[in-house]
Amino acid sequence: MSKASINPQILQQIAGKSLLVTDEWSTEQIDTLAQVAWAMGKADFAGKDLAWLKNELAYAMFFDNSTRTKSAWAGAAARLGMQPVIVDGSSTQVSHGETAAETGCMLGMNAHALGVRHDLILGEGNSFMRDVKRGIDDYLVATGDKRKVPIVNLQCDIDHPTQTMADLLWLREYFPEGIAGKKIAVSWAYSPSYAKPLSVPQGLIMLLPRFGAHVTLAHPQGYQLMDRCLQSAQRGATESGGSFTVTNDMDAAFADAHVVYPKSWGPYDLMLERVAANKSGDKAAMGGIEKRALDRNAGFKDWICDERRMALTHGGDALYMHCLPADIGAEVSPGVMAKHTVNVAREANWKVYVVMALLASAKVPDLGQRIANLG
Ligand code: CP
Repeated sequence: MSKASINPQILQQIAGKSLLVTDEWSTEQIDTLAQVAWAMGKADFAGKDLAWLKNELAYAMFFDNSTRTKSAWAGAAARLGMQPVIVDGSSTQVSHGETAAETGCMLGMNAHALGVRHDLILGEGNSFMRDVKRGIDDYLVATGDKRKVPIVNLQCDIDHPTQTMADLLWLREYFPEGIAGKKIAVSWAYSPSYAKPLSVPQGLIMLLPRFGAHVTLAHPQGYQLMDRCLQSAQRGATESGGSFTVTNDMDAAFADAHVVYPKSWGPYDLMLERVAANKSGDKAAMGGIEKRALDRNAGFKDWICDERRMALTHGGDALYMHCLPADIGAEVSPGVMAKHTVNVAREANWKVYVVMALLASAKVPDLGQRIANLG
C-alpha cells in the first residue's frame, strides 16, 4: 500500500465524517482511511511530528472495560497534539436520565472529537452514538460553530470499526499482496469468562469480504449474529468477488484457511434477553442471564484453536488473529498463543493509527498535502 495513491476526492468525501459502522462507508472510502492510517503508522515509526491538531480536546466515554482501545485513543490524540480525556460512561449523568442527544450537545460544546464505547446491549450502543452525534451536530449548526466534532465508534453492539480496521491493516502488512483470494475463518470459540459482545465477529464479516477474501463464519447452533450483518457480509462478498459462508463446523472453517480468527461471543437469544433486563435495571436478572450464557458456552468446550486445528489450515501454518483479551486455555491453546504473541500485539498496535486516521481525515483540511510532505 502506498500513500502516493491516496485519492484527494475520496479524502474530501471523508472530511468531517464519523465512522459508526464500516458498511456505511464506500469501499473506496474505507480503503482511503486505511491508506491514511498506513501513512501515519509509517511516519510515526520514523519519528515524524504529526501534531496537526494542537490544543484540541479528544474526549471519550467508555460504558465497558477496555485496555487496548482506551490506550489507542489516548496515544492517537497525543500524537496529533490533542489532549485526550477518557471517562467511565457510568460516571456521567446518562445514568440519571440525561438523553444521549443532550450528552452529545454538552460534550460537543467543549470537545473537538468524541469517542464512545457502548457495546453490551443489543440495539442500544449504535443508536446511542447516533443520538450523541445528532446532539453535537444540532448544537454546532444552531450556534454557527464551524468546528468538526467527529464521533468515533470505539465498539458498539453492531460493529467495532477501529478493531476491524486495525485487523485489515495488519492483514495487509502480513500479506503485502492483499487479502483477495485468502480464506479467513472467523470462528466462535469457548470462553468461561463472560458473554462477549457480538460486534467483533460482526465487524469482521462486514469488512473483510469487501476486499475479495473468502470468509467462513463458524459457530455452534444458537450463536448466530445479527441479520443485518450477515446480509452486509453477503453483499460485500458478491460485490468484490470474494465469498461468505456460514457453518456449524469449526474444523471445516479451519480447513486450508490462511487466517483464523477464533473468539467467543454470547448466545444470541440470551443477548436479546439482556435487553429487557437491562431496561428494567434488574441486576439479578442480568446476573442470571450471564450465568446461563456461561453454562451454555460450557457445552462447547471443544471449540478451541489448538495445535490439531491449526494443522488443518493452509500449510498447517495459518496466521492466528485475536482482538484480545483472549481466554488462553479456552479460546486458544497456550502453545498457539505463544507462537503468535508478537503477531497479536502487532495487530493491536494498528488501532492507534486507525484512530489517528479517523481524527485527521475528519479534521485536518489539507491532510493530503500534509501526508505528501511527510516524504
Ligand atoms: N480489542 C479491544 O477492543 O480491546 P479492549 O477491550 O481492551 O479495548
